Amino acid sequence: MPVITCIDDLKRLHKRRTPKMFYDYAESGSYSEQTFRENTSDFAQIRLRQKVAVDMSGRSTESTMVGQKVAMPVALAPVGLTGMQRADGEIKAARAAAKFGVPFTLSTMSICSIEDVAEATQAPFWFQIYTLNDDKFNRDVLNRARAAGCSALVITVDLQILGQRHKDLKNGLTAPPKFTLPVLMDLATKWQWGLEMLGTKRRFFGNIVGHVEGVSDPSSLSTWTAEKFDPTLNWDKIKKLMDMWGGKVILKGILDVEDAEMAASVGADAIVVSNHGGRQLDGALSSIRVLPEIVSAVGNKTEVWLDSGIRSGQDVLKALALGAKGTMIGRAFVYGLGAMGEPGVTKALEVIQKELDISMALCGERNVHDLKRENLLIPQGFLNAYS
Ligand code: GLV
Repeated sequence: MPVITCIDDLKRLHKRRTPKMFYDYAESGSYSEQTFRENTSDFAQIRLRQKVAVDMSGRSTESTMVGQKVAMPVALAPVGLTGMQRADGEIKAARAAAKFGVPFTLSTMSICSIEDVAEATQAPFWFQIYTLNDDKFNRDVLNRARAAGCSALVITVDLQILGQRHKDLKNGLTAPPKFTLPVLMDLATKWQWGLEMLGTKRRFFGNIVGHVEGVSDPSSLSTWTAEKFDPTLNWDKIKKLMDMWGGKVILKGILDVEDAEMAASVGADAIVVSNHGGRQLDGALSSIRVLPEIVSAVGNKTEVWLDSGIRSGQDVLKALALGAKGTMIGRAFVYGLGAMGEPGVTKALEVIQKELDISMALCGERNVHDLKRENLLIPQGFLNAYS
C-alpha cells in the first residue's frame, strides 16, 4: 500500500489505474482550460496568516450544511460517470462519505442508479438533477429520488448545453467504452479496472437508460446533453422544479451576483458558487475570486457554498474564511476512487480534514465557524481585479 500524504498522490495513482478516457474526462476543462487552471492557481495566490501562542486544544471541523450535521463542511459533488472510474463507483463513494459523515451527491449522469445507491447504502444521500426535455422523466426522477429517501435536491443551473472538452472528443468518450484498438491497448495496462468492471452489471447511465427513449447513442454523454437536456431551463422552471420537490434545494453553478440574488429570491436553501470545475464557460472567473461579492450580496439570505478548485484542506479553509458556509469537492474524491476505490475516497476525505484541522490550528483558530478574512493574506487587487 503506497504512502498517501496528499490529494496529488491519489491523482497519480488514479491516472495509472484508470482507463485514459475516464481519467481525462475527470481531468478536463472546456476549450483552452483557462478557467480550469485558474480555479487552482487562484487558490494558490491566497496565503494564510500564521498566529502563534494560541491555545489550540479542543478543535472542531464540524458544521452543518442545509441543516444536516457534517464532520467538516465538505460535501461530495455530483460527478458524471463516477461508476466508470471504478466499478460501482457511486456506491463506493456514497459509502465512504456516509462513514466519514459528509454528504454524497448522486449525479443524474451517474452509472449506478438512484435505486442502486439507495439499496447499497444506509444514510440518505443528495440527488442532483439535470432537467431533460421530457416532463414525465423530470417528474418521475424526482419521485424516484424521494422514494429513495434523498434528503436534498441539487439543481445544476450551468449545464443546459455542454462546454466542449477536447480530450473527450479525441478519446471517443462513452460509457461503457467502445472497444477500439487504442482503448484495448490502454485497457491491457488497466486489467484490475477491467476485472472489477466485469464483476458488475452497472456499466450504463443507470438513471436514464431504460427510463428515456429516443437518444441516438445512449452511451454518449455529449449525445444525451445535445439531444435530451432542456435548453429552455429558466428561473420559472427552476422554481417549478423546486416546488415539485418540496424539500431542501441547493442551486449549483452560480458565478454572478445578479444570479445569486435570483437564486436567493426563489428560495434556494443553499447556492454553490461554481464554474463546474472549469468545464463549462472557459474564460469565466475562478470561484474563489467571485465568492466574497456573492457572500456579501446574499450571504444573509441563503447558505453560500463553493466548489471548483478545492484540492486540499487549506483550500477549504480559504473558502470558509472568505465567507463560504460549505464546500463541495469533485475531482479530489474522484482521484481517490480511481486510485483505490472506497478506501481511496476515505483517504481523500481524511487528507482534506487533517489539512484543514492543522492549518486552522496554525492560523490560531479552533473552530471552522471562527474562520474569517483576517486569517488570510490576499494580494492587493486580487478580489476586484476584474469588473
Ligand atoms: C457533467 O456534469 C460534466 O461536467 O461532464
